[in-house]
Amino acid sequence: MPDRRRQKKSKYTADRNIPGSFEGETVTRRTMMNIAANGAGAVAVAAFTLPALGFAIAPIFKEQPWQWEPIGAPSRFPATTYATVVINVVPGIGEAGTTIAYVRARNPAIDTEPEDQYNRFVALSSRCMHLGCPVRFVAAAERFICPCHGGVYDFRGMVAGGPPVRPLDRFYTRLNNNTGLVEIGARYSVNNELQRFSPRFPGEPIDGIGQYLYPARFTGPSKP
Ligand code: FES
Repeated sequence: MPDRRRQKKSKYTADRNIPGSFEGETVTRRTMMNIAANGAGAVAVAAFTLPALGFAIAPIFKEQPWQWEPIGAPSRFPATTYATVVINVVPGIGEAGTTIAYVRARNPAIDTEPEDQYNRFVALSSRCMHLGCPVRFVAAAERFICPCHGGVYDFRGMVAGGPPVRPLDRFYTRLNNNTGLVEIGARYSVNNELQRFSPRFPGEPIDGIGQYLYPARFTGPSKP
């Protein structure tokens, strides 16, 4: 009975008694052509994909510039409600780089997170932590409402209902003793214990294992 198992041909010319690609070469011409064609294909693919990949990934590692921005005298910011301020988060591009922040003085009766020089004024981002729609502060209800999918945040910016995955982001603030003005600085994210984290995208929970599943980006400072 004939042996039906197919014997794999050796890729070496010496084993098969045929000439190589060139004098002294031990690889067959077919193998040589395969290697050359695959190599050319790989170079062509890399030429297209690497620049696109670099273009997509580079912004992640680019540090965003930021600066302390004066937003008014302390008297402008009571502890019982929020003042709306327009701040510049991306310098150099005019109005497109501005956003709204809600600012009030710290109220020890409700602001139980440890006090330091950067949270004597509480500044909340207006970006919803579900998908990023702008939230609006409704003073009568003492709630922040998101019009997109019904997200609701309480007076401190903690999630009170709807799909947001974490409290509203915050900004560092400080009182400039030279000018007497309140200044607003870099944005940071908080978990449900109001612990600070470097900025995350909306939709990224950072409680528990979330802080590892959604690691810090390299685009912004986590500290002022
Ligand atoms: S974006 Fe705010 S609830 Fe969906």
